[in-house]
Amino acid sequence: AKARHFRWEVSNMFWSPDCEEKVVIGINGQFPGPTIRAKAGDTIVVHLKNGLHTEGVVIHWHGIRQIGTPWADGTASISQCAINPEETFTYRFVVDKPGTYFYHGHYGMQRAAGLYGSLIVDVADGEEEPFKYDGELNLLLSDWYHESIYTQMVGLSSNPFRWIGEPQSLLINGRGQFNCSLAAAHTPGAKQCAGAGNRHCAPVILPVLPNKTYRLRVASTTSLASLNLAVGNHKLTVVEADGNYVEPFDVDDIDIYSGDSYSVLLTTDQDTSANYWVSVGVRGRQPKTAPALAVLNYRPNRASRLPASAPPATPAWDDFARSKAFTYRILGRGTPPPPATSDRRIELLNTQNRMGGVVKWSINNMSMVLPATPYLGSLKMGLRSALPSAARPSDTFGRGYDVTRPPANPNTTVGDNVYVLAHNATVDVVLQNANALARNVSEVHPWHLHGHDFWVLGYGDGAFRGDAGDAAALNLRNPPLRNTAVIFPYGWTAIRFVSDNPGVWAFHCHIEPHLHMGMGVIFAEAVDRVGELPKAAVSCGATATALMAGAGAG
Ligand code: C2O
Ligand code: CU
Repeated sequence: AKARHFRWEVSNMFWSPDCEEKVVIGINGQFPGPTIRAKAGDTIVVHLKNGLHTEGVVIHWHGIRQIGTPWADGTASISQCAINPEETFTYRFVVDKPGTYFYHGHYGMQRAAGLYGSLIVDVADGEEEPFKYDGELNLLLSDWYHESIYTQMVGLSSNPFRWIGEPQSLLINGRGQFNCSLAAAHTPGAKQCAGAGNRHCAPVILPVLPNKTYRLRVASTTSLASLNLAVGNHKLTVVEADGNYVEPFDVDDIDIYSGDSYSVLLTTDQDTSANYWVSVGVRGRQPKTAPALAVLNYRPNRASRLPASAPPATPAWDDFARSKAFTYRILGRGTPPPPATSDRRIELLNTQNRMGGVVKWSINNMSMVLPATPYLGSLKMGLRSALPSAARPSDTFGRGYDVTRPPANPNTTVGDNVYVLAHNATVDVVLQNANALARNVSEVHPWHLHGHDFWVLGYGDGAFRGDAGDAAALNLRNPPLRNTAVIFPYGWTAIRFVSDNPGVWAFHCHIEPHLHMGMGVIFAEAVDRVGELPKAAVSCGATATALMAGAGAG
């Protein structure tokens, strides 16, 4: 294992991700940011300089558990103070497990402004993956808005509410096409994109040789969109999800929610004289965004030869039965089974409500607000008055709640949002979806846990029927280990994890505007066992004041 050092500077810059020039947040002049590639067991050291002129920044390493280094998790107001303009913070952490990961901004809505990149961990020397392949292709998927994140954030907190709407384009490795199609001949009403020219939005070309097997690494860091990926004429075999191996299964296409990552194997066994489309389209919400296309280029065909056939069609956005069928097929392979029983069950009801007239998402009727003093510092230093409120969140929401109707009480509150977990407890969380404020609306929410992988024990429709019903029917035999799990409209999802990683961890919906509107909670796990916090992680808010008082006294 070795240490890999990076010097990064984050800055705003002009860029044309979908051929329209906008401002993006880039790293070292690149968008998306540089790909980190490492081997399991390596230590990653990123010296991150904030080159934004007037706002803080942090970077979260999505899927990396940060065992023993909770202050390097990169969540503003949770694991650290945001890095001020012109200042540098050093992230140092071990990538202990091979897999497909990514990193992204975790302050305000900076992820949606383009602050993201890939993080790929190969097996350690001498180790082998449980499947074989000849080559690898990496696809980082995102969605892109033409409005700035500042306009978006003002809209979300305005009364009347202004929703951000659907994205203008979908991006593959930071490239998309707005208002034109690479496959216009097959797309009624679309105009053909003007050829080469703009290097920022040139089509993504994936070069392959015939009769080989490729590992496609696919991760989604979308702000809003749930996606589906298909490759014309080719089957896909799913082998990895969120950095964990899964029992291989064959599909024509995969669904991928924000925060998910997959590896799929693809064999180049089709007519070698042609190229093929890779198509990425929207699912789960009525799409207003054209699919993103890339070209699977069978060498030695010219890359510029566009596939003659139509791109594969994205399955109907509202075919949730199909989405569920895909999701339910994902099962663990060689992963340890979960403990047979749990010590605690936390039931989290997701509702849409209002606070002071402003629309919020809340969990057991508390909407998450992020305090000036990061939770890790305030909890470790015992500064409870620095939490957003004294009100503790509840482990249940009460059985009678009717998930099929808008909330009877449309108003939500502020709490401290903190679930205190004992060390080494087995914790079950049941995420319960419900109707939003408007009638007959219930949305998809992909929930992501920091600091852990969890077993996904089961999914169901309607209200979770506790011990008598659903709890007895969970999969304890071969559930997949993941770090992100979706809840389907009006449904529930049950997960289990062991609180064996002292720290303070965010658990939230990975849809950026939903998180911004309060859709998350904090798990504080054996904080007394957390090692000494780096000063730079606590040099703000009440922890800074406490540190200065301590320094003065000393
Ligand atoms: Cu990738 Cu807290 O998120
Ligand atoms: Cu959500």
